Amino acid sequence: MSASLSRLEAGGALDDGALTDLYRADGPVLRVNFVTSVDGAVELDGFSEGLSGAPDKRVFGLLRMLCDGLLVGAGTLRHEGYRAVRLSAERRAWRRAHGLAEYPTLVVVSAALDLNPGQAAFADAPVRPIVITHGRAPADRRAALSGVAEVLAVGDEAVDLAEAVARLRERGLTHLLCEGGPHLFGSLAAADLVDEVCLTVSPLVTGPGAGRITAGPASPPKGMALRHVLESEGSLFLRYARK
Ligand SMILES: NC(=O)c1ccc[n+]([C@@H]2O[C@H](COP(=O)([O-])OP(=O)(O)OC[C@H]3O[C@@H](n4cnc5c(N)ncnc54)[C@H](OP(=O)(O)O)[C@@H]3O)[C@@H](O)[C@H]2O)c1
Repeated sequence: MSASLSRLEAGGALDDGALTDLYRADGPVLRVNFVTSVDGAVELDGFSEGLSGAPDKRVFGLLRMLCDGLLVGAGTLRHEGYRAVRLSAERRAWRRAHGLAEYPTLVVVSAALDLNPGQAAFADAPVRPIVITHGRAPADRRAALSGVAEVLAVGDEAVDLAEAVARLRERGLTHLLCEGGPHLFGSLAAADLVDEVCLTVSPLVTGPGAGRITAGPASPPKGMALRHVLESEGSLFLRYARK
């Protein structure tokens, strides 16, 4: 990767090894990763792509390399047209050398199960994805998805996210990376399941209209501790952790 990042207070470009050390987690973690504009937009023209750039993509890919499970809300999977998780040969080798499966497992959270089994995220997945839903999810959709994913009903009438995270950890998916979207982040925060927030602030003011990185029912504020600040091409890369 060519995008150069440096630690704000120390300066100097970080190579992949140093960047990996800055983002490695000790033990089980549920980490959320988002990109936002300076004025807090979650999307530009409907997508996160317009807020991102090469340095953000570098961190995005690195965070994927580090996780066991890649957690995403059905809205983001559908809207952003998620494809199968792919990692470079180097990153797969790094994972093997560090005792991880070659690829992270995609974990999709959905109540309605309005998901297309033919979407590449499912159809081309290198590891059978997991879909987390609840006991009242439509049986026909559940059956259609079970050809391409393991469908887990967790909770009777709504998804019980705490139980879902516990079930994923029991399977060895202890490092979870959530790539959004806002509703999933909001409900994870409401359930007090968020251990870390990695946030890219892009040097853009996009104006009113877009939502924030969080949505859904209100939850009490929680203090977070700043772990690091990186900079590249005017973007900031913030890593916050649970106090
Ligand atoms: N800036 C960024 O870094 C970033 C990252 C991700 C997404 N985005 C943007 O965010 C927008 C999408 O927002 P969104 O809020 O719709 O995304 P989302 O949270 O991924 O999707 C919401 C949907 O996910 C499922 N879901 C989420 N939480 C759930 C829960 N607790 N229980 C059961 N199901 C749950 C539901 O799916 P069902 O409808 O199937 O029940 C729900 O309708 C897009 O514009 C996307 O580009 C931006």
